[in-house]
Formats: sequence, C-alpha cells, structure tokens
Amino acid sequence: MIVSLDEPIISMEDRGYQFGDGVYEVTKVYNGRLFAFAQHRERLYRSLRELRIPAVWTAEELQQFHQLLIAESGIKDGGVYLQITRGVAPRAHNFPENVVPKLTMSIRPAGSANASLRETGAKILFAPDERWLRCDIKSLNLLGNLMAKQKAKEAGCFEAVMIRDGVITEGSSSNFMIVKDGVLWTHPLGNLILKGVTRTLIVEKIAPELGLPVIEKAFNTSFAGGADEAFVCGTNTEIVPVVTMDNNPVANGQVGAVTRKLQQAFNKLID
Ligand code: PDD
Repeated sequence: MIVSLDEPIISMEDRGYQFGDGVYEVTKVYNGRLFAFAQHRERLYRSLRELRIPAVWTAEELQQFHQLLIAESGIKDGGVYLQITRGVAPRAHNFPENVVPKLTMSIRPAGSANASLRETGAKILFAPDERWLRCDIKSLNLLGNLMAKQKAKEAGCFEAVMIRDGVITEGSSSNFMIVKDGVLWTHPLGNLILKGVTRTLIVEKIAPELGLPVIEKAFNTSFAGGADEAFVCGTNTEIVPVVTMDNNPVANGQVGAVTRKLQQAFNKLID
C-alpha cells in the first residue's frame, strides 16, 4: 500500500518506535535505477539475522517494492529508505513471540548539498565514539551517531569522525579513509564499524582497478594528521574529500589527486 509521507501508519507499540528494535537500509537511485541493491539487500538480511528478526520478505519482493516506489514517484535520482522493525507488541524488553515484522519504505529526491562538497571538500571534526559495540548491525538505534553529527554541525563541520580507544573508527553516517604514501588506509571490518556498501566498492573494486593498495588497519588521529589525503564515503555521501580535520588542513588543504581518481571511478559505476 502506498500512502503519502505524512500518513500516520506507525502504532504506538511498534518496537521500532519504542525501542529502536529494527534495522534499516538506504539505497541510492541513479537515472531511475537502483544502485548496488544486492549488497544492500544482503546487509539487510544479515542485520535481521543478527537481531533474530524473521526475514519474511524474499529478495524478489524487496526489489519489487523498491521498483514500485521508483515507478510511482517518478523519482530518477534519489534515495530509498527501508526499515523493518520487530513488529507491534505490548511493551516488554524481551523479544515477543509470534509478532509479524513491520516493513515501511519511503523515497526522496537526492539533495544538492553533498554535490558541492564533493567538489570543494569538507571539514570534519573528531568526536568520541560513544556508540554500542555492534556497529556492524545497521540498527535503528542511532543516538550515538546523532550526537556526534550534531557536534560536527555545531562546529561548522560536515561530518564527525569517531574515535574509540584512541583509534579512528568511522564517520557518524559514513566510512573514513586516508591516503598516505600512495596507500589507502581504513579501519578493518568487525563490530566497531558498519560494512559500508560504498566502502566495499572502493576497497574491493575501485582501488584494485586503480592499482591503489589498501590497508585495513586501525590508526590514530596523529597518523591521520600526516595523511596526504582523506575522505568520507557512503550511500548519500558518495565520496566527499576531507580538506580540514579538527581545524587542521589535510596536507595543503586542497582536494587530493587520488581522491579525485576515486570519485571519477565511482561516477563511472553509477552512470
Ligand atoms: N549511512 N557508517 C555508518 C555509521 C553509516 O551510517 C553509513 C551509511 C555508512 C556508509 O555505508 P553505505 O556506504 O552502505 O551507505 C558507514 C546511511 C546512508 C544513513 O544512515 O543514512
């Protein structure tokens, strides 16, 4: 059923609403086509498995729902938001039995703010990573991310890049990478970061095609301070160069050549 975005469709006792007990995905639409849908779908199924929420929709159904929203809205460039909550049940902390998960989705046209930052580069702020220890699950619980992002906004920065136990993990809604001596560095996969679809494309496809070595290893802010280039990446972000970190210029404060090459290669994939 397709309704307008302001229609009240969530129950008071939806566990997503009361507990953040659910998962989500954001998938980009370019030229009317879904981008990297298979990767988003597989991550969604994994998030559901980790939280023991039954996956009651097939891959085909999920794809059809996305196509329907694209067709009905006529949106050519935008983002589809999908969330699945454990369902509606009287409020209790344990998982309720026999509840049916609830899926809701929306589509919005792409904004223009990131487009200009992709050209000029952006400022980031380092902020403590105050999130839980299952950042690999794309859960609806985003308060740690929200608080970090708000700090960045109040400091006039585009993104907060988070620090846990002295090492850089990821952005509040993006993954973080640096280029140093011709090598791309980023935090390894595990429970401390989200396995970003954009990150995977860069690490597994774009960087190897450009002959750019990748090291997935934790590093600290002083190591990052000596970077030649830095950027954040994500579905909405795509690749945004970082030219200032915590008020210090990255190298000469200009967008780096490797980041530009990565952007160009990424743009070829979405064409
Ligand atoms: N955020 N890390 C975090 C914490 C994120 O929230 C995101 C994406 C990413 C990048 O993942 P991907 O490349 O798959 O988008 C990394 C989405 C877009 C959001 O919350 O809106």
